[in-house]
Amino acid sequence: MRILAVSGSLRRGSHNTDLLRGAAAAAPDGIEIELYHGLKEIPPYDADDDRPGDLPAAVERFKAALAEADGILISTPEYNSSIPGVLKNALDWASRPLAESPVRNKPVAVLSSSTGMLGGVGAAAETRKVLGALGARTLEETVAVPKADVRLANGIDAELLAELRAVVDALAAAVDTRAALAA
Ligand SMILES: Cc1cc2nc3c(=O)[nH]c(=O)nc-3n(C[C@H](O)[C@H](O)[C@H](O)COP(=O)(O)O)c2cc1C
Repeated sequence: MRILAVSGSLRRGSHNTDLLRGAAAAAPDGIEIELYHGLKEIPPYDADDDRPGDLPAAVERFKAALAEADGILISTPEYNSSIPGVLKNALDWASRPLAESPVRNKPVAVLSSSTGMLGGVGAAAETRKVLGALGARTLEETVAVPKADVRLANGIDAELLAELRAVVDALAAAVDTRAALAA
């Protein structure tokens, strides 16, 4: 089973990217979690450039990676009480044409972390709302890490690893359910 991991933060020391790496480490045998590195190359959404068969190369790559994945795991920070622009922009590209969106009917779990007290739960909720508009099967299971600079200062501890494992297990179960329904 292949899970595509997408971080809403581009910075090198991102706590959200760390969470995705933790989820990859926590995943059981048979579940491969691959981190997507190309979000920064995706241009701002422009409907004039949204031509099927002639998309910007970075958008083509992103949509192909989403399509090839069995499930998607997103981890997002909160920027000014909302979704970081790069993540929303990438999801906007992935949303058209709506009936053919590569996330349509695909299981997606959303994690969050922030240096604030709430761990980015607002941004995660908004990300789930956007994913709903795209027709994704968005899971309620989540992990939110508040005060991430303190909590993750020494890496991901065993308790957090277990929480991440629970989300990965739920995502894998949703992928299996989807496959069973399609069979
Ligand atoms: C532009 C900007 C806006 C932010 N707004 C919020 C916010 O509304 N709520 C919050 O909890 N943290 C906010 N933060 C702090 C981020 O949660 C913090 O920088 C976090 O570590 C970013 O995630 P990352 O480590 O994955 O890059 C903001 C940070 C930036 C750069």
